[in-house]
Amino acid sequence: VTFEVEDHDGNRQPIEAPDDMGLSLMEVLKASEYPVLATCGGMALCATCHVEVLGGKDGLGEATDVELDQLEALPEMYDTSRLACQIRISDELEGAVFKLRGEDQ
Ligand code: FES
Repeated sequence: VTFEVEDHDGNRQPIEAPDDMGLSLMEVLKASEYPVLATCGGMALCATCHVEVLGGKDGLGEATDVELDQLEALPEMYDTSRLACQIRISDELEGAVFKLRGEDQ
């Protein structure tokens, strides 16, 4: 599946990721060397993997209550904020666009 990622400087790049391995978006971002701390290791506890969904929101499914609790505790939450560790890579993400919103280091 191919989707796009915009970094903190506004640079947008396509990323191709396998959609049959059960990976999370957070894992793919880290593997692609984006600056995602993921301190909690994908447990929806640290919110350092915060992304804003700029396009393709419909393919993502709903956020769980645990995820929403983390997002609502952030200093800035956007209408389409999500935690990248809670997004499964699937073919539904084709053409989606994510902007990194977590801490930049
Ligand atoms: Fe910690 Fe996603 S990696 S909330």
